[in-house]
Amino acid sequence: MKIHRAGIVGLTGIAAGAPPSIPDPVFGHAHGDNHASGYAQIPNVTVVGACDLVLERNAEFLQNWGHRWPEARTYTDFRMMLAEAHLDILSVVTPDHRHADIVVAACEAGVKGIYCEKPIATTLADADRILAACRAHGVVLSIDHTRRWRQIWHQARVLIRSGALGPLRRIVATLAGPRAMLFRNATHLVDTVNFFAESDPAWVMSDLDDTHSNYPPRYAGDGGRDPATDPGASAYVRYENGVRAFICANKDGLARFELRLDCEHGRISVDDSSGAAEVTQLARPAPGGGDAQGDARPVKWLLPTAPVATGGLEAGLREVISHVEATARGESPASPLVSTGEDGRRTLSILLGILQSNHRGNVKVTYPIADM
Ligand SMILES: NC(=O)c1ccc[n+]([C@@H]2O[C@H](COP(=O)([O-])OP(=O)(O)OC[C@H]3O[C@@H](n4cnc5c(N)ncnc54)[C@H](O)[C@@H]3O)[C@@H](O)[C@H]2O)c1
Repeated sequence: MKIHRAGIVGLTGIAAGAPPSIPDPVFGHAHGDNHASGYAQIPNVTVVGACDLVLERNAEFLQNWGHRWPEARTYTDFRMMLAEAHLDILSVVTPDHRHADIVVAACEAGVKGIYCEKPIATTLADADRILAACRAHGVVLSIDHTRRWRQIWHQARVLIRSGALGPLRRIVATLAGPRAMLFRNATHLVDTVNFFAESDPAWVMSDLDDTHSNYPPRYAGDGGRDPATDPGASAYVRYENGVRAFICANKDGLARFELRLDCEHGRISVDDSSGAAEVTQLARPAPGGGDAQGDARPVKWLLPTAPVATGGLEAGLREVISHVEATARGESPASPLVSTGEDGRRTLSILLGILQSNHRGNVKVTYPIADM
């Protein structure tokens, strides 16, 4: 069995938070939801390099994970890590505007699989550099829009794709509370909308939260967590396949992440915090009785959750590794990646379209778009 040599750049909690220390007497250790915890669950991976500009982050990494990977070395320069550590797999967990240089350098250094944090980048030029480098070097790239590895979203999509509710017409997506920042958290919301719309955007119109009505037509933050530099937004996205999406990612409401998927004969409401998906389906009207929509009685049911062995970051990392292994064998992977670089670029292009529309007076912005 090949042991994959992995590295992580950027070492905050989402990258390498401490492993849960006290096991449950029945269920054992819980798994942390971060990149290091994901790697720790995969037997044929060893983390050999960890890199952060800040020395304390490196020290924390060794303290939290040194016992698990005694071979691991820490670096403050990702280029030195790429030159010395001979990595097969890399996690890119730096701020959003610092993904591109690292991904490109990793491709050039011979890394075979990259799990890059969301959003893919903050400009289309950077996203395109990432995609071009991965294509040129045959590198497997996956973007960590985390919900793509949660079972409930897949089950909802399976039901929609089955046609049992009729064609998908409309998506109403809500994210509220102070974390409803476009690039920080609403990127998850927009990406989840794309996951269901299954089409490219045709055009977008938007209105940023009042606190950011004068925001420029490009991302103006520092790739980090400051709500002052990352706006909330309301937007209407029309997809090429006719699906309409209403995106409400506003900071001034009750914190929640919900999607309502309206189909011709029913709807699914997914509440991300409870993990519940409620299906409302029109019962068939009595034969010969009245109009199909008006006379039908709705039936409600909760979509049962399927038991799964993995989820979240571990599932994303396992998927990257399985694609790297299939490529090395000269085989096609068993199934397509659930979150490709192109998916990440599509989501970024909507975030940027939202900024451009607002900046130009809430006008209709038609795709394809370029950086402004
Ligand atoms: N998928 C999720 O749910 C989720 C959750 C949190 C954060 N994220 C993403 O993870 C990434 C990191 O987020 P964060 O909140 O930890 O950011 P952050 O800005 O708090 O920290 C990132 C770390 O990267 C380090 N860093 C920056 N540039 C570097 C470089 N060139 N080389 C080495 N280290 C460098 C910083 O010193 C810092 O320790 C972002 O892209 C963010 O959007 C994703």
